[in-house]
Amino acid sequence: MFIDVKDTIKNIKEEIDIIKNELTFEPKLVSLVVEPDKSTLSYLNSQKRSAKKYGINLEIVESNNLVEDLQKHNEDRNTHAIFVARPLKKGFTELDIAKNISPFKDVEGVSLYNIGSMFYEKELFIPCTAEAVVKIIEDFTDVKGKNVVIIGRSTTVGKPAAILLQKHGRDATVTVSHSKTENLKEVTKRADILVAAIGRANFVDKSFVKEGTIVIDVGINVVNGKVVGDVSQDVSEICNLTPVPGGVGSLTTAILMRNVFRAAKGEF
Ligand SMILES: NC(=O)c1ccc[n+]([C@@H]2O[C@H](COP(=O)([O-])OP(=O)(O)OC[C@H]3O[C@@H](n4cnc5c(N)ncnc54)[C@H](OP(=O)(O)O)[C@@H]3O)[C@@H](O)[C@H]2O)c1
Repeated sequence: MFIDVKDTIKNIKEEIDIIKNELTFEPKLVSLVVEPDKSTLSYLNSQKRSAKKYGINLEIVESNNLVEDLQKHNEDRNTHAIFVARPLKKGFTELDIAKNISPFKDVEGVSLYNIGSMFYEKELFIPCTAEAVVKIIEDFTDVKGKNVVIIGRSTTVGKPAAILLQKHGRDATVTVSHSKTENLKEVTKRADILVAAIGRANFVDKSFVKEGTIVIDVGINVVNGKVVGDVSQDVSEICNLTPVPGGVGSLTTAILMRNVFRAAKGEF
């Protein structure tokens, strides 16, 4: 069975509508692009469509000096939110963003302040994809005491999802696995909930899961021009699986847009 995330997205849209009604201006999002390659530009085109749909003024800026441009837009009163397109290259790292983006405009939730707050169980802006993962799980089941296995330990998905899921009140028991994990299938078969954030097309097949597992597919991979996840679709025959496309990615976009409205309102 596939997990339907439409209602979860609808809830985010309702949050946006509430803030939108309170604002007297159109929020402005600046997307900085360090490496304008084909896939980045294609992602930004879809971001443009989303921004238009939600009523956000999106400016895409090609950046030759990421740190300087972050500081410039941090100070610009007309910019409410900042997004940095990946990949970074040109010598910049995720830590450069984390250290230099204003936490109040950090709609991706990657600044040291916002990550630190999350660590202390205060959720301000939190990494959008990790929030999407948690929201989908919470809308589908009670995570309290459940065994959640995450494949992937990235700063933007695996690690924050692990912190969020083990938060007091959510109370999941979380295992984070990665490329050096031994006997991965033995680990994943113990999962009540499996999160796949690997970046390898159809990596997780039926042999990784026990029947009835809730499987959250974060992966976005292009194979022969088609977008596929990290989980083989036939896993849905024995598990509850999020679709790709139309699952985590769609919710992540909605969450990012909601965060732009929150930043414009000055919620944090
Ligand atoms: N839906 C969305 O909105 C959204 C957002 C962000 C990313 N994504 C997608 O999600 C996927 C993961 O993204 P990411 O940024 O987290 O990727 P990443 O930074 O490349 O991290 C991948 C993780 O997978 C682990 N891994 C790689 N090969 C493995 C293997 N054979 N066995 C076990 N673990 C393995 C890596 O382990 P090591 O740490 O040991 O290298 C790493 O921790 C990608 O497909 C990406 O496009 C989707």
